[in-house]
Amino acid sequence: MQVLESLLDNFKTELNSIHKVADLLNLKSKYIGKQGPLADVMKNIKDATPEEKRTLGSKANELKNTIEDLVGKKMVELEVAEINQSLLTNKVDFSLTDSVLDKGLQAAGLHPVTIIQQEIEDIFISMGFEVLDGPHIEDEFHNFEALNIPATHPARDMQDTFWFADKKHLLRTHTSTIQVRGMKERKPPFRFVGPGKVFRCERTDASHEMVFHQLEGMMVGENVSVGNLIYFMKTLLAEIFKREVEVRLRPGFFPFVEPGFELDIKCLICNGKGCSVCKHVGWVELLPCGLVHPNVLKSGGIDPEKYNGFAFGLGLDRLVMMRYGIDDIRHLHSGDLRFNSQFKTF
Ligand code: DAH
Repeated sequence: MQVLESLLDNFKTELNSIHKVADLLNLKSKYIGKQGPLADVMKNIKDATPEEKRTLGSKANELKNTIEDLVGKKMVELEVAEINQSLLTNKVDFSLTDSVLDKGLQAAGLHPVTIIQQEIEDIFISMGFEVLDGPHIEDEFHNFEALNIPATHPARDMQDTFWFADKKHLLRTHTSTIQVRGMKERKPPFRFVGPGKVFRCERTDASHEMVFHQLEGMMVGENVSVGNLIYFMKTLLAEIFKREVEVRLRPGFFPFVEPGFELDIKCLICNGKGCSVCKHVGWVELLPCGLVHPNVLKSGGIDPEKYNGFAFGLGLDRLVMMRYGIDDIRHLHSGDLRFNSQFKTF
């Protein structure tokens, strides 16, 4: 009992000199840990009379609770003190941006293609699509063969390819390569998009670049129809342009889809009446798409008897140009800060 009586006072004295969380934890275990005086008392309690056992037991319990309470309170105090201390020493200087700009440097921002890409990814994620990535350096299989473009196929000439010296590797000419790995790595039903850079060995002009951006999309399941394709494309375009858009499908040829289409939207500038943007036809060609060719499903390890799907390849640079009224694609890669800094999002 004597031990218990002096225990609390000693604890309080020691507690007053503690300034660190680690020391506090040590003190706690010194007093109420397994090797501490309280544990000792409890070990020796067997020699006491039943009466003594009761008073000793409840006193010890009470002490343990008091010490735990005091430790808890001190802990909060120490943590608050630590936070205050770190606020003092790790000050964030919010005036930094201004002073950097004063020195003529530019604050960072996102490239307009990145802005559109992230926006479209979000739209597809909200419709249950995954977002996949794929390598820029590809082999013939992923860029051509698996997509139903055999070596002798004239469609290989449709896309001027940057080949590596080994004649086996190339810079991907389209994001359709992402379809192949995407199919192999999952079981139907699935839906995903795959955005990224693509490369073509082409002469550049106001509407052609050697490096540009696409966003591939694919949905595979049982009974996927052209109706599904139109629904998803209309929803996408309404979200991008923030209004209802009218679309039409024209036949289009791509070896990896059958039937293949060109999806046009009614010109948003003249509302279909005809203007310079739509070259006076009232419609703007926006998005090639179609139902996935059975050969492509097969090369992705999918049974074309049981499943089918749609695919599309959205050109991102074109969208950026339409949204921001940019008349030359070459601005996008110019690296000119006067151009880039117009699209800051933060
Ligand atoms: N890969 C084609 C290109 O770059 C675009 C494309 C057309 C993608 C039709 C598709 C599609 O998924 O179904 O020219």
